[in-house]
Amino acid sequence: MIDQLKKQLEEVKSFTADSQDAIEAFRIKYLGKKGLLNDYFQELRNIPKEEKKVFGQTVNELKIAATEKIQELKNNLQDKEEVKSLYGDLTRPGEPLELGARHPTSLVKNQIIDIFSRIGFTVSEGPEIEDDWHNFTALNLPEYHPARDMQDTFFIQTDPDILLRTHTSSVQVRYMENHKPPIRTISPGRVYRNEAISARSHCFFHQVEGLYIDKGVSFADLKQTLQYFTTALFGKSRIRLRPSYFPFTEPSAEVDVYWGLETETDYRMTKGTGWLEIMGCGMVDPNVLDNCGIDSKEYSGFAFGMGIDRIALLLYQVSDIRLLSENDLRFLKQFKSIL
Ligand code: DAH
Repeated sequence: MIDQLKKQLEEVKSFTADSQDAIEAFRIKYLGKKGLLNDYFQELRNIPKEEKKVFGQTVNELKIAATEKIQELKNNLQDKEEVKSLYGDLTRPGEPLELGARHPTSLVKNQIIDIFSRIGFTVSEGPEIEDDWHNFTALNLPEYHPARDMQDTFFIQTDPDILLRTHTSSVQVRYMENHKPPIRTISPGRVYRNEAISARSHCFFHQVEGLYIDKGVSFADLKQTLQYFTTALFGKSRIRLRPSYFPFTEPSAEVDVYWGLETETDYRMTKGTGWLEIMGCGMVDPNVLDNCGIDSKEYSGFAFGMGIDRIALLLYQVSDIRLLSENDLRFLKQFKSIL
């Protein structure tokens, strides 16, 4: 009899159940009115005197074990249900995680950063909401300067001194105000112009500004740097510098890269000339250096600025600049394989 009780005790201790019904069935089996424990208590009367004590103790032990087991199983079940209502069914198959793609503008921006960081340029950034000094005046564009009209500016209505920067050249000024030469930095960022939106132009786009200031920097350094850049980005080393005008550089130039005329697309892109304009550049005007607290008698430097979106359109053969800001997943997903 005792042996049977001990076996039952083991059974109770190792019992598990994960439903309300199974626990209830277990309770009825052991603790119910017609349950096993009641039977054992009845049985106690018939047990010989010398065994009574051990038998009684074991039945009690069994009762306690069964009661505790029921409580434990009930608690477990409740915990599980709480987790379930919080997270749903934890055993269901996971939902596929969709990996995004980098935006083509970011892809090109990262490439440009990579190319210039290899020759010692750091990355610097400035605010998109700028003041007149950093966007215009310090860059040799005083009030009423006609060249201000070249850039259709969005002003913040309540304050004519505050505007959305029209170019990343404003970051040059901030950088020079806060750093001593030698300076080698590029400044990527978003810029704004009050222009009609079309396939070719948008009211906001992205530029990268480059700035190099040290003792004895020459135009030859500028040309060499740009040649290194076009070779690294496009695989094309033939460039030409056309004289141009920017208020913040003297002399100034526009940079064309020789794209070639191998395919029909080349013809279309270069309008039959083989040449593509990719950026503006020049030697930083001494006035600009002085405005920014750098002695123009001691230092000289070059600067350049280019549109990132235009280059992205070129490299990925996209025909409409608006696609870059419409967030159409069918377009963006095509860049998944590019890092
Ligand atoms: N800021 C000019 C623009 O937005 C681009 C530019 C031209 C930047 C010449 C320069 C530069 O630093 O030297 O059109």
